[in-house]
Amino acid sequence: MVETNLILLGPPGAGKGTQAERLQADFGLAHISTGDMLRAQRAAGTDLGREAEKYMNAGELVPDEVILGMIGLRIAEQDAREGFLLDGFPRNTAQADALSKTLADSGRRLTAALLIDVPDQEVVRRLAGRRVCSKSGHVYHVEFDPPKREGVCDQDGSRLIQRDDDKEETILRRLEVYARQTSPLINYYEQAGLLRRFDGQRDPDEVHDHIRATVATLRLEDEL
Ligand code: AP5
Repeated sequence: MVETNLILLGPPGAGKGTQAERLQADFGLAHISTGDMLRAQRAAGTDLGREAEKYMNAGELVPDEVILGMIGLRIAEQDAREGFLLDGFPRNTAQADALSKTLADSGRRLTAALLIDVPDQEVVRRLAGRRVCSKSGHVYHVEFDPPKREGVCDQDGSRLIQRDDDKEETILRRLEVYARQTSPLINYYEQAGLLRRFDGQRDPDEVHDHIRATVATLRLEDEL
């Protein structure tokens, strides 16, 4: 079977993590979120986590050398050899070039870059209301996708928390960083013939149906 290697692109709060959880279940791909990896390092109190925290809390990108080292190791792991879903990476053209090179060096390639489009004012609403399970990382929204019991995860009963970078001032900075550093990747992957666009303003189930149908078609085409 041909590997399916995907990138989820889109502004903060577009729904990348929400869709990644579903697509991972659909296609059995390794979900690789650089944000989650950095938060795990921070929670473990490692040097890398402490260094990354300064940038994350300011809404800035963590330096490329930190991210590239982490990603290079992760996509070479056994589960990711059978296909991966990158969430939050690449975030600038230097990271995208490094990814292409790493994949080409090992005879691998990207299947598609999936762009979830959402306007800035919607991002602010979404991130200000986001709550995350302190144990599993499952994502909720106080208005659009509330848990059955306020402040408690439906899946495992753990406490729901608000991310440190989901304060309005930091959200606005993250949007600026996305516009300046990450959005040029839309053209980058369009030029490479890999870009697929999705309307992220629809209901999460509808967004999921569209992405799933597109990925299923791409996998069929690859197998022909
Ligand atoms: P990261 O964790 O990657 O954050 P992000 O890209 O800003 O994305 P988010 O996780 O905030 O949003 P999402 O698109 O996953 O949305 P979600 O599904 O949660 O990065 C954090 C930081 O780490 C960066 O700022 C940077 O410092 C550092 N970093 C990470 N990767 C890096 C890299 N490669 N290089 C350098 N630095 C890096 O949904 C959001 C909310 O909306 C939820 O409440 C959800 O319930 C709700 N929602 C989702 N879909 C819908 C819908 N369709 N309708 C209504 N509500 C919805």
